[in-house]
Amino acid sequence: MIIAVDGPTASGKGTIAKALAAHFGLPHLDTGLLYRAVGLQCARGGGNPDDPQDALAACDFPDHLIADPELRSEATGGLASRVSVHPEVRAALYDLQRAFATQPGGAVLDGRDIGTVIAPEAEVKLFVTASVAARAERRFAEMRAAGRTVSLAEIEADLRVRDQRDSSRATAPLVAAPDALVLDTSFVGRDEAIAEAIRAAEMLIA
Ligand code: C5P
Repeated sequence: MIIAVDGPTASGKGTIAKALAAHFGLPHLDTGLLYRAVGLQCARGGGNPDDPQDALAACDFPDHLIADPELRSEATGGLASRVSVHPEVRAALYDLQRAFATQPGGAVLDGRDIGTVIAPEAEVKLFVTASVAARAERRFAEMRAAGRTVSLAEIEADLRVRDQRDSSRATAPLVAAPDALVLDTSFVGRDEAIAEAIRAAEMLIA
């Protein structure tokens, strides 16, 4: 069984994907980490994330980069969003994601284009979303808990830029698959959102 969980930044899709993986005993891949690793590798190597050749060269990032704490920063999220625009980069990361999705026994993947491009045949497709305000508040709380100093206004502005870039790109834009179940977490707590996602998945596979 393949479970595809797509949605914008800080919508709660990662938390929901992890919970679904634990509930169904499936392996989980956060595909955003791959794009983040490409963005970070590109910037650290002095490349330009807006240049397709520089971004493509960075797809060869070393495995250990996936565990780098800098991968989770807002700055790296911005770099990821810039390299992910290039079709060359998306193509280079396709096989790895596709192999993960189609492994025997199934898998849970979260990202932007899992239900539309990577695994359109997924039995369960969720599109997890929330208002910009709710997502900014969440990200702000996470950042403060991690000891980072950022302003709420800065986070909100950054989310808007990223949403716009992710939704308007020509290749694999951020859109809900026509057959995805939309879960709006703006006014829903973490546990309730997880319970709802599990209920939805169980209903879809029944
Ligand atoms: O989900 P996360 O915030 O870690 O993703 C970082 C960026 O990577 C996104 O803003 C998006 O541009 C890109 N991404 C993507 N396709 C995916 C996962 C992430 O384009 N499947």
